[in-house]
Amino acid sequence: MTLPSRSRYSALALAAALTAGNAAAAEAPEVARARYLWSQSPHGAFLERILPRAVEPHQLPEPRSEGAGLATRYCVQCHYLPSPQMHTAAKWKPIVDRMYWRMKGHGNMGALMKDMMDRVEAPSDRDLAVLTRYLQKHGMSEIDPKRYPSLETSAGKMFTFACNQCHALPDPRRHTASDWPKVVERMKRHIAWANVVVGVDVLRTVPVLETEEIIRFLQRHARSEPKPK
Ligand code: HEC
Ligand code: HEC
Repeated sequence: MTLPSRSRYSALALAAALTAGNAAAAEAPEVARARYLWSQSPHGAFLERILPRAVEPHQLPEPRSEGAGLATRYCVQCHYLPSPQMHTAAKWKPIVDRMYWRMKGHGNMGALMKDMMDRVEAPSDRDLAVLTRYLQKHGMSEIDPKRYPSLETSAGKMFTFACNQCHALPDPRRHTASDWPKVVERMKRHIAWANVVVGVDVLRTVPVLETEEIIRFLQRHARSEPKPK
């Protein structure tokens, strides 16, 4: 398969998006390029299912920093851009190591990836360190169970059960009581997405996660609202 070069492809993608005249015009070239490659690959469906589409490059924390640039360059080659906030600093290290291993073309998956992504680029040691530090700096803060005996209540258990399937259990103080419902609403979309892409057809029900109790639990322990100016 011959691929247009990165810059030429960006121009093509941009032109296509502009012609389509929709919000996709704002799509970052890296994301557009990955989507194009997936559409050409027999493994595309698999790649598109690895991570939900959650953040665009300009929505990354400190979007102009070197770390954000490296994440956009290296972490959208095989799946949608991961949010640094998805994992704790402790978890990012082994995940990045696993991804780096793949980018070097190791392991079954690595060879497969290399083959289908045409040319997967791996960062230098230095860039890898900058990228890892960036992800860690903006990583999620995990709950400290010792400080939350109420995790043992039924609401606490529901929260634990529902909210650490994809990442660490978040610290309720991460958000204010008025922000939590929006965050949980987004998580419900990720959960519905995971169910649709991973669930076996015949077993696929659309489970409606009852989040009221979880939201109340989070709000009870939430960070206090900023003082009005
Ligand atoms: C060579 C292809 C490739 C590249 C490049 C790549 N990944 Fe992945 N990634 C995968 C595959 C395959 C999976 C699914 C299997 C798995 O989780 O190991 C995955 C899964 C993930 C997941 C979801 C699983 C989890 O543990 O939450 C995260 C997060 C992730 N990658 C982060 C990254 C980051 C950060 C980068 C950039 C440093 C990156 N990936 C670059 C192939 C890649
Ligand atoms: C199907 C996987 C999945 C499940 C289950 C899940 N999340 Fe997430 N979560 C994600 C992904 C993907 C991200 C990163 C993208 C984003 O922030 O939307 C994330 C990020 C987060 C973050 C960090 C970002 C922020 O805004 O602070 C918090 C907090 C969070 N989730 C809370 C929750 C809560 C509470 C639940 C349980 C109701 C939950 N998650 C269940 C996938 C999941």
